[in-house]
Amino acid sequence: MSLKVEVVGLNLKTPVMNASGVLEWSPEAARRLIDAGAGAVVLKSATREPRRGYDWPRIVRAFGGYIIAVGIANPGALEVSRMIKGFKEASGGAPVIASAAGFSPEDFLEVANLLEDGGADAVELNMSCPHFKGGGIELGQDPQTVYSIVRDVSGSLKIPVIAKLGVADKLVDISVKALEAGAKALTLINTIKAMKIDVYTKKPVLSNKVGGLAGSAIHPVAVRAIYDVYRETRAEIIGAGGVRDWETAVEMILAGARAVQVGAALIDRGEAVITEIVRGLEKYVWIEGMKNIGELIGLAHKT
Ligand SMILES: Cc1cc2nc3c(=O)[nH]c(=O)nc-3n(C[C@H](O)[C@H](O)[C@H](O)COP(=O)(O)O)c2cc1C
Repeated sequence: MSLKVEVVGLNLKTPVMNASGVLEWSPEAARRLIDAGAGAVVLKSATREPRRGYDWPRIVRAFGGYIIAVGIANPGALEVSRMIKGFKEASGGAPVIASAAGFSPEDFLEVANLLEDGGADAVELNMSCPHFKGGGIELGQDPQTVYSIVRDVSGSLKIPVIAKLGVADKLVDISVKALEAGAKALTLINTIKAMKIDVYTKKPVLSNKVGGLAGSAIHPVAVRAIYDVYRETRAEIIGAGGVRDWETAVEMILAGARAVQVGAALIDRGEAVITEIVRGLEKYVWIEGMKNIGELIGLAHKT
């Protein structure tokens, strides 16, 4: 019985990894994730220029998760590129997936090239952040823009490109475009636009006012997104959104995901949640009498 999966041609010892944005810029934190059972690590999104992010408060608890508007705080793609070597060493052979964000196809191209130069094993293109003005979901909900970004980046890079998309009316069309343009996999989904208002100050709590909802509350939305996109494309999908235990991970895999990412639950519970999910998956695959977890992918589509 094995949890090994291949994602974008990379060998993962388990199909569980962190979601972008919840791993500090610290190779030691990556080592702890791998030791806990993660099959890969995903870095925070990097932009062309360094960004300090939005003012505090940037994160607030909400029913079933958190609302976040960090504003893609990062030291800039060149600096991130220099850090990747440390992450690779700390990950002991497990893939390091870097994440690129930007305001234009040119930005994505430059950032992704720097991340490849730094030694990343794959690049996830964050085209779905709901609170990144001028970038993020504003670009990622237009099929043609997604096509241009993915085409330019995957035409230029040797390493695999993963398109990270968020909920949008045309998600299936956008996914098809990303795949046609050369994406080897899709990460579905990002946080969902949301807001929290303080009833005493009578103002939005986050400095950016609007943020993205992460956590349990968005899990059914993510499962539906994965199911719809897998049904139409049979693409390699990495599921994200409210994964907090083996059951929420299995649901995504049955909908069509090859691997899952954990964001909010890592903030809540630290690496222990990764170990718990991995142990639960092992038990489930064994009880189901399967040799490999890959046998579960997309089973919810069988009639
Ligand atoms: C604190 C925080 C920071 C995040 N930063 C990023 C980021 O830099 N890039 C990105 O693509 N997604 C980012 N996300 C979104 C997550 O990667 C993930 O898609 C989303 O939170 C859904 O998963 P979850 O419900 O398990 O948190 C962030 C999420 C959180 C909670």
